[in-house]
Amino acid sequence: MTSNHKPLTELNAWKDLVVHHGNGIPKISELFATDPQRGEKMTVEAAGIFLDYSKNRITEETLKLLFRLADESNLRARIEAMFSGEKINITENRAVLHVALRAPEEELIFVDGENVVPKVHEVLARMKVFAEKVSSGSWKGYTGKPIRNIVNIGIGGSDLGPVMAYEALKHYSDRNLTFRFVSNVDGTDFAEAVIDLDGEETLFIVSSKTFTTIETMTNALTAREWLLKSFRGDVKAVARHFVAVSTNGAEVSKFGIDTDNMFGFWDWVGGRYSMDSAIGLATMIAIGPDNFMDMLKGFHSMDVHFRTAPFASNLPVIMGLLGLWYTDFFGAETIAVLPYEQYLKRFPAYLQQLTMESNGKHVTLNGTEVDYHTSPVYWGEPGTNGQHSFYQLIHQGTRLIPCDFIAFAEPLNQIGRHHDILIANVFAQAEALAFGKTIEQVRDEGVPEWLAPHKVFEGNRPSNMILARKLTPETLGKLVALYEHYVFTQGVVWNIGSFDQWGVELGKVLAQRIIPELESVTEHKLTHDSSTNNLIRRYRAMKV
Ligand code: F6P
Repeated sequence: MTSNHKPLTELNAWKDLVVHHGNGIPKISELFATDPQRGEKMTVEAAGIFLDYSKNRITEETLKLLFRLADESNLRARIEAMFSGEKINITENRAVLHVALRAPEEELIFVDGENVVPKVHEVLARMKVFAEKVSSGSWKGYTGKPIRNIVNIGIGGSDLGPVMAYEALKHYSDRNLTFRFVSNVDGTDFAEAVIDLDGEETLFIVSSKTFTTIETMTNALTAREWLLKSFRGDVKAVARHFVAVSTNGAEVSKFGIDTDNMFGFWDWVGGRYSMDSAIGLATMIAIGPDNFMDMLKGFHSMDVHFRTAPFASNLPVIMGLLGLWYTDFFGAETIAVLPYEQYLKRFPAYLQQLTMESNGKHVTLNGTEVDYHTSPVYWGEPGTNGQHSFYQLIHQGTRLIPCDFIAFAEPLNQIGRHHDILIANVFAQAEALAFGKTIEQVRDEGVPEWLAPHKVFEGNRPSNMILARKLTPETLGKLVALYEHYVFTQGVVWNIGSFDQWGVELGKVLAQRIIPELESVTEHKLTHDSSTNNLIRRYRAMKV
C-alpha cells in the first residue's frame, strides 16, 4: 500500500474545511460568551489525562469536519495497519511497531509471520537482570569496584528519549548513581561528561540502532581510550565497562563489545520511537525495573485508548487534528509546548525529534509534492521561565502560536506555596491568551491614550491544557504515547511517510567528504561551491 487516501485537498472534508474557515471562526471570547458550558464540554479525559481544548479557534462544526477529515483519510484503517504490523514505513519496507514494545506478554503481534511480543519481553527480562546487578553493586568494574557512574552515549532517538526520561523521572531515580548523557560529536560534550568520573567505577552504554552513527562511534571510541587509561591499556577491562544497545550485532562485535552485553531491538522500532525499547536501559537503571514497567503500562494504556476510542473522544486524534487545523488553515508556523513541571525540561527537545523528524516531509507517500503544509516547528521551555522570556511574542506578537500547556495537580516537591503559584500561572496564561484585554478595558484602568495600545492584548490565541494528577513513570508513558499518536494522526491525514528520515542523509554524506579535506596534511583539490571551498581553506588556515 502506498497512498493512504486520494489527494488531501480533494477530500470533501478538506474542501468543506476551506469553506468553513473562509466563513470566519468567531473569536474565542465570543465562542465562550455564546456557550457558557463550552469550558466543560470541550474537554476529554482518558487514561488519566485530562485535556481542555475549549480555548481553541473551533466550533462544533469545525470538530465535525476535522473528524470527517480523519475518516476520509482512512485514519481508522491506518491505525489498525500500524498496530497489526503492516509495513507502513514504505520507503524502508518496515513495520512500525513501537506499540509492541509495551504490549502485555499475552498479546500477539506478528511481523513476517513471527509474534514479536515474546522477543520484547525477553529483552526486558535481560535488561531487568542487568539493571538490578548495576544498582545493587553486584555488577563490578574490572578492578572489582561497583559501578557508580553510567554514561549513555547516543544521539537523536538514542539520546533524547533516555535523557528526557531520566530528567523527567529523576524524582524516582537512584541517587547513589550518577548519570551522564553524551551525544554531540563536539568533544566538549564527552570531556565535560567524564571530567569528574573515575573510570574504574564507570559504565558506558553505547546506544545506537545502527551502530554506525559517526557521532556515537566517535564518542564511543573516545570513551574506550579514556577508560583504558584507568586500566593501563588493559583491553580486558572493556567487557566490564561497556554494554551496547543496538539492532546491529555485527557492528557491536566489531567495536569490541561482547554481544552477551548487548541489548537488542529491531528494525520495526524507529529511533525516535525507541525510548521504551532497550534504548531505555539507562532509564531502567535509574528508576528501577518496576518503575520502568509502570512507564510501559502508561504507554500501553494510551495505545489502547488511541486504537479503540471514537475520534471525538480520542486524545491524540483531537490534538493532532487541532495542530493540523492551525498549520494548514491559519498558517501557524510553530507550536509551543510548555510544561509547567521542571522535571519535564527536556520534553520539548524530545518532542522536536518526534514531531519534526517524523512529519517534516515535502512529498506524499506516492512521491508527489504536497500542496499544503506539513509539520510546524515545535519548541518550548518549562513554565514559568518562558513567561519571562518569549511569552511576550505569543501574547502580543504578530504570529499565531498555538500552545500546549502541560500541568500536574500534585507536585513532586511540595514546598510552601510554590505549586499553587505555578499552576495559577499556567491557568492565567491560557486565560490571557484566549481572552486578552481590549482597549476599552485598558482605558477603564485610567491608562493614558498614548500608552493604551501597548497594553492591549488581542487575545484569540489558542491553547490546549493537558492536566494530569502527578508526574509518575506511568504518566510519562501516557504523555509520550499521546504525542506519538498525535504525530501518527497528522502523518496519516497529510498522507506522508512519518517513519523515515531521508532528510538527514545529505548532510551526513557531505560531512564524510569534508572530513578528510579538513584533516589531511596536504590540501585537497576542492570541488565544492565557492563558499564551501573558501570556508574549508579558511578553517585550515585558522586551526592550530
Ligand atoms: O538523525 C538521524 C537518526 O537516524 C535518527 O533518526 C536516530 O534517532 C539517530 O540518527 C541516531 O541513530 P542511531 O541510533 O542509529 O545511532
